Amino acid sequence: MTILLLGSGGREHALAWKMLQSSKCTSLFVAPGNAGTAAIATNVSINPNDFEAVKNFVLQEKVAMVVVGPEDPLVLGIYDYFKNDTDLQHIPVIGPSKVGAQLEGSKEFAKEFLVKHNIPTARYESFTQETVAQGCQFLETLDAPYVLKADGLAAGKGVLILSDLEEAKTELRNMLVGAKFGAASSKVVIEEFLDGIELSCFVLTDGKSYKILPTAKDYKRIGEGDTGLNTGGMGAVSPVPFADAVLMEKIENRIVKPTIAGLQKDGIEYKGFVFIGLINVKGEPMVIEYNVRMGDPETEVVMPRLKSDLVEIFQAIACQELDKITLEIDERAATTIMVVSGGYPEDYEKGKEITGLENITESIPFHAGTTLENGKVVSNGGRVIAVTSYGTNFQEAIKKSYQSIAKLQFDKMYYRKDIGNDLE
Ligand code: AMP
Ligand code: GLY
Repeated sequence: MTILLLGSGGREHALAWKMLQSSKCTSLFVAPGNAGTAAIATNVSINPNDFEAVKNFVLQEKVAMVVVGPEDPLVLGIYDYFKNDTDLQHIPVIGPSKVGAQLEGSKEFAKEFLVKHNIPTARYESFTQETVAQGCQFLETLDAPYVLKADGLAAGKGVLILSDLEEAKTELRNMLVGAKFGAASSKVVIEEFLDGIELSCFVLTDGKSYKILPTAKDYKRIGEGDTGLNTGGMGAVSPVPFADAVLMEKIENRIVKPTIAGLQKDGIEYKGFVFIGLINVKGEPMVIEYNVRMGDPETEVVMPRLKSDLVEIFQAIACQELDKITLEIDERAATTIMVVSGGYPEDYEKGKEITGLENITESIPFHAGTTLENGKVVSNGGRVIAVTSYGTNFQEAIKKSYQSIAKLQFDKMYYRKDIGNDLE
């Protein structure tokens, strides 16, 4: 089968790597891909948000399945675009419908869904430019710190956590009146701060049944000791050591089951990944967000631990037979450390030649932001390479990733040296 994978990050390199292990995948295209996917599949320079270009390519190459990596095409409705086109409707798209993608595309939609289906989450209210005064009053009823979330997609930057009430009010006005995050902050969700440790739960669903993938924990801040600016993710560990059977049972019963049942009750078509961002508040899991795709860099540790055939799973999702699949998971731990461009997540330079990749033998270097320039691999983004390793435990895996990173070089490369230090 010919498959088209949309996206260009470390997540897509890991998904491509995994799909190519399946005998069912005879040909894989990645649009637009990176230098890592170019080495194992065929890159095509198509923007995943240009549905007409995707359509033409799919018909021309007789693509039999489209797998969507990032959220943008999903929120823009690529699932519905295929479903409503007579030439395309027989081709499955792995991802939710446009309405389903609102679980990530709109924080307010997600909160309404959570409350409606009795899924544990932080207390909240949402506000617009017209109700900014009420928003300030609501802030006064909460304890610090204050959590402000732009309703729409803001490239992971739309959440502010502030310790000072006056600053929170000022930022609320900046978001609603000053359009701090553009149209994404024309509505703002204010919610109670949840104090606890974060983990991510990844679920596959065909809209009827579900399978839970291995848990992962990501490290969001740029600086060691979880300090500094938020990034897309600086590293990940799977499994999450504190996600024991008791916590996982609570997550499954209180969160995963009502989420899938809620999608069904609300008539929301969903054939893809649900990424549930959780905070473990003294043993009680609460939802902080839904994403409608896999996480990055969590994919770079979750996919290596999946032993089952991913293409077979996608086929089962497409024909709503996921209940017939048994997931096989590798017992080993997997960790990834993200190597980034100096300056990221603020300004950074691209086009730096990356050397030493071929010397990495004990880890898998998944390319995140790379491209080929005159046959050389050069940096092309803030997050550049995710170095993934296996180990009998996460400490051993992390050690291997650091040993492999020592073989890599590019100008101004940076990575956190404390991934996993908070875990036991
Ligand atoms: P989100 O985009 O909703 O995941 O928020 C980004 C980050 O902000 C999360 O990964 C958490 O670290 C933090 N965060 C979001 N909501 C809350 C909350 N209610 N309480 C504490 N931290 C939060
Ligand atoms: N690593 C977090 C995300 O993919 O949103």
